[in-house]
Amino acid sequence: MKLKTLVMLGGLGLAAGALALSQVGAQSNTLRVFAGSTLRPDLLQPIFDRFEKKTGTKVVLELGGATSELQNQYLTTVLGAKDSSLDVMLIDVIRPAQFVAQGWLEPLDKYFGGDADRKEFIEGYVPGPIRANTIGNELWALPATTDVQFLYYRKDLLEKYKLPVPRTWEDLIVSAQTVLAGEKNPNLQGLNFQGAPIEGAVCMFLQPFWAAGGDFLSGGKVNINNDFGKRALNLWVDSINKYKISPALMAEVRTDDSRRMLQQGNVVFGLNWAYAWAHFQGNGGPTSGPSSVIGKVGVAKLPIFEGTKAATSTCQGGFQWGISSFSKNKQKAFELMKFMSEVPNQEDFSIKGGFLPVRKSLYNNNKVLKANPHYDDLYPVILKAKPRPVTANYPRVSEIIRTNVNAVVAGSKTVDKALSDMQSALEPLIK
Ligand code: GLC
Repeated sequence: MKLKTLVMLGGLGLAAGALALSQVGAQSNTLRVFAGSTLRPDLLQPIFDRFEKKTGTKVVLELGGATSELQNQYLTTVLGAKDSSLDVMLIDVIRPAQFVAQGWLEPLDKYFGGDADRKEFIEGYVPGPIRANTIGNELWALPATTDVQFLYYRKDLLEKYKLPVPRTWEDLIVSAQTVLAGEKNPNLQGLNFQGAPIEGAVCMFLQPFWAAGGDFLSGGKVNINNDFGKRALNLWVDSINKYKISPALMAEVRTDDSRRMLQQGNVVFGLNWAYAWAHFQGNGGPTSGPSSVIGKVGVAKLPIFEGTKAATSTCQGGFQWGISSFSKNKQKAFELMKFMSEVPNQEDFSIKGGFLPVRKSLYNNNKVLKANPHYDDLYPVILKAKPRPVTANYPRVSEIIRTNVNAVVAGSKTVDKALSDMQSALEPLIK
């Protein structure tokens, strides 16, 4: 039964070794690791192989879906069933609060060699993901990669039309219209974003909401049904209907669709996470497809709105290594997680995959900066990324926001109705 669930949900990820593993259980010298498919199995596996060479412990990778909520669905089923065959999982930064409340994560403090060791380890990390993984003073997961949303743009097209990199949404709209009018290419999108009802759509609300000056929680109360909320959602609606820089199909676009569209040369300005960079350079791995934009993409911080004092804001993203409470190989699982955090392995993931490192020192590392020149300028943005609401109820919170954002982008709900629906549904959940 247990295996059947895994086969159904794990899809391609259920490697042959997994069968043997779940039968031998505790005696096994194998760790079973879950990761979403955008987390580059082609880069993870060689690092796992090095771990096996060093320690004799084999690591079997089980691949989950491409979006955060699909991965969550899968893990909820496996962990809800107290399935002991999964040892380690890469979880989105929004999950620790939820997983700890469910009793699904192993607390990590006892695996360090005392307080000083824990402190030294943590101090080497960028603070955002450490904050997300620390609940009640206990560390529950180790950051694997951090993440923010960037504005990716076509350098070649901006140069052709003598346009600067836009700092405001208003400038971006005019520049996108200029390029579209000049190029006359029906496949070209001026602005691409994620309007499908996926986790990424939560950030499509929060980022422009923060940039407009909004404060999600004020005085401990959800506060989104206001002009800041309107400005945020109108940005997407107007991009489609009024400024005509985004096609209506944005309502179906998920993160990896956005990545592909820009990579195929069909987008002038696009919002996406750090991993997209390596794909644009033609280094996206075996399932990435060819890139038509090698050397043509620039990276900037997200725009702000004219006439507001708010700084640019991005969601804090990224993935964390957690140990399942039900694993029978916890000590080995921790060894693997520590191994993954070593500098050469972090370097690898970042140089070859574009993933933002979690160790501060890597932002001064020449090899990393050569592969990702934008890390240098954008480091302050990475440090200032803001968390999405931190709550054990996060799946419900996310669902409310992402379905409303999607309804607005799809044109099936007005901005005003979506804001009042979100406000009333979220109020009782976040206090
Ligand atoms: C990226 C981020 C993750 C976020 C997801 C949303 O993978 O790293 O934190 O939730 O995108 O699509």
